[in-house]
Amino acid sequence: MHEFKYSGNHLYCEKVKVEDLAKKYGTPLYVYSYHTILGHFLKLKAAFSAIEPLICYSVKANSNLAVLRSLVDKGAGLDIVSGGELFRAIRAGCPAKGIVYASVGKTDDEIEEAIRRGILFFNVESIAELENISRIARGLKKTTRVAIRINPDVEPKTHKYITTGKLTNKFGVDFATARQILLARGGFPGVDIAGLHLHIGSQITEPAPFLAAIKRAADFISEMKSKGIGLQYLNIGGGLGIVYDKEAPQTAQNFARRVLPILRKTGLKVILEPGRFIVGNAGILVSKVLYVKATAKKKFAIVDAGMNDLIRPSLYGAYHNILPLTDSGRRMTTKYDIVGPICESGDFLAKDRLMPEVREGDYLAVMSAGAYGFSMASNYNSRRRAREVMVVKDRVFTIRKRETNQDLVRNEEVPAFLSGI
Ligand code: LLP
Repeated sequence: MHEFKYSGNHLYCEKVKVEDLAKKYGTPLYVYSYHTILGHFLKLKAAFSAIEPLICYSVKANSNLAVLRSLVDKGAGLDIVSGGELFRAIRAGCPAKGIVYASVGKTDDEIEEAIRRGILFFNVESIAELENISRIARGLKKTTRVAIRINPDVEPKTHKYITTGKLTNKFGVDFATARQILLARGGFPGVDIAGLHLHIGSQITEPAPFLAAIKRAADFISEMKSKGIGLQYLNIGGGLGIVYDKEAPQTAQNFARRVLPILRKTGLKVILEPGRFIVGNAGILVSKVLYVKATAKKKFAIVDAGMNDLIRPSLYGAYHNILPLTDSGRRMTTKYDIVGPICESGDFLAKDRLMPEVREGDYLAVMSAGAYGFSMASNYNSRRRAREVMVVKDRVFTIRKRETNQDLVRNEEVPAFLSGI
């Protein structure tokens, strides 16, 4: 499903040998395949073509302007969760009418800016937020559209940190509260309650949780209709899982085949908010082996990328396949902990991973790092965030420079009373 393949003994991204990129630009390095990003978007679009949904790519998965622009250029809208993401969306040329805005904690400033810009709608997550949006919209003498984010209380069978649609999670409101809001909708002037929003979690590989949630939402929509309350939009969120290891996630087509009948029946305009599905397998993190060392119990391959570059293994125990850029025919003989240089034992990219023998100077690719990789990167240990490049067939574009030491201290000030520097 992606354009990272070996040809001869070398790993290629589209038509470019990744090792050439590592040598030219240094490591750690994020490499994205433009055609893989596009391919996933177009696959989803084709699978749902019968209802022509608005596909709002979820900016948080990978918020690089070039990634956003690639998708917006092909007609994608964007799903945002902060004023910063609104800024990026607009910078990337996304029309305001293609922007949907979720988040349990939108600030007054963020709400005001989004209303002024005229986004498609807010996904509201509580009555208190709805009241606040109403107050701000009235102050601006505007009417703004919202969708109520429903927490349908379904088990998505994914990591607990990325489960969002259970009533123990902070997201959305239950059906009873949504009913209460809709029945009292006249009490929220300045707000047009135009739809429902669902997002039950991320990296969901089975259709059942989606079906359960969408079915409940559809029943609720017809109940409201029978009470004379019409809605226009049904936003079914993101969450489609991808292959990291041995998962067998649903294809876009299978997913569409299962959910389309229910979506059609609602008669509403459907919105999708995929993040990982579009960019997950479209990016890799390339690093270099600095040292190999053994203790009495373990073998460590110490690489120059750490948890600040890719936190998913440390934070979720996530599995990422790790491949040598040059397949030198060495057999899979040794188990390694592949670790970064950061001063934390939690700084690892893989544990007890069976690998061909790894030597100093080898380059390794951490696969499927396109989603929640760079976007969750930090400067911990004062590490400069990596360069990002995008490959388009045989062309290579830097889409973010490697940070400099100056970048690290750019916003810091030493008070004048401290002498000496
Ligand atoms: N819509 C909403 C409201 C969301 O909260 C999210 C993700 C998405 C869409 C996109 O979900 P996706 O299609 O990418 O599954 N950092 C975690 C994932 C956190 C997901 C947060 N919300 C990870 O690395 O696995």
